[in-house]
Amino acid sequence: MVLQRIVRAVIMGPPGSGKGTVSGRIVKTFGLKHISSGDILRANINARTELGLLMKACIDQGQLVPDDVMSRLILSDLRAVDQSSWLLDGFPRTIYQAEALDDAYSVDTVINLNVPFEIIKQRLTSRWIHLPSGRVYNIDFNPPKVSGFDDATGEPLVQRADDTPETVTRRLKAYKTQTEPVLEYYRSKGVLETFSGTETNKIWPHVETFLSRKLTSVNQKVA
Ligand code: AP5
Ligand code: MG
Repeated sequence: MVLQRIVRAVIMGPPGSGKGTVSGRIVKTFGLKHISSGDILRANINARTELGLLMKACIDQGQLVPDDVMSRLILSDLRAVDQSSWLLDGFPRTIYQAEALDDAYSVDTVINLNVPFEIIKQRLTSRWIHLPSGRVYNIDFNPPKVSGFDDATGEPLVQRADDTPETVTRRLKAYKTQTEPVLEYYRSKGVLETFSGTETNKIWPHVETFLSRKLTSVNQKVA
């Protein structure tokens, strides 16, 4: 689908709710640019940048990295893709971050993946990722064609250091206290759309229909 207007979208949901997986499908179907805060942080850790080394301890313990660091990082990346439609994944995660984003851009679409906490833990321990691209696999749900290797590049897959059961518990706690208020923030602005379910493959068709309608009606308003 060719968009005629710039779309500013955010995808939200607890850790392991499928943000990365659904983002991949949105990017493929609608051509939005995907900016994932977690992928950016992991790329910094992998490249051993100063920022990456500083943030690694926070992430490995399941805590959020400081708001000002995260906001500066994401806003500077957004400026680089200013002329395109984008989808933010993992940012904003606090009210501070939502306000910092609001000061620079007006978000028009927020997709909230509402998946019960009980099923998340098991998912995350069977997740494998391709670090350079952020592509997500799951040995039970969407395994790679060749075990341990990325479908597109053939490069090796890794497990995330923060996917241990104890760290996942801490990440869920941080989500509840720091990120859930952001849902209310967007609900009050009238841009929040929630999709509930336990399986990404069942949630995805609803997200796809919603975005097709929303993007078409946006285009018609502009035309
Ligand atoms: P981030 O990388 O954003 O992690 P997260 O929010 O914890 O989310 P995940 O990436 O773990 O999950 P996801 O929702 O993308 O799900 P996925 O598609 O992979 O952040 C990591 C850390 O960085 C944070 O903890 C924090 O420290 C820091 N950070 C990042 N942003 C920050 C910010 N703005 N401010 C401060 N700190 C920040 O799917 C999950 C798994 O489920 C996959 O294996 C998938 O294949 C599988 N799956 C999907 N559907 C099914 C199904 N039906 N059955 C079985 N498995 C399934
Ligand atoms: Mg993710």
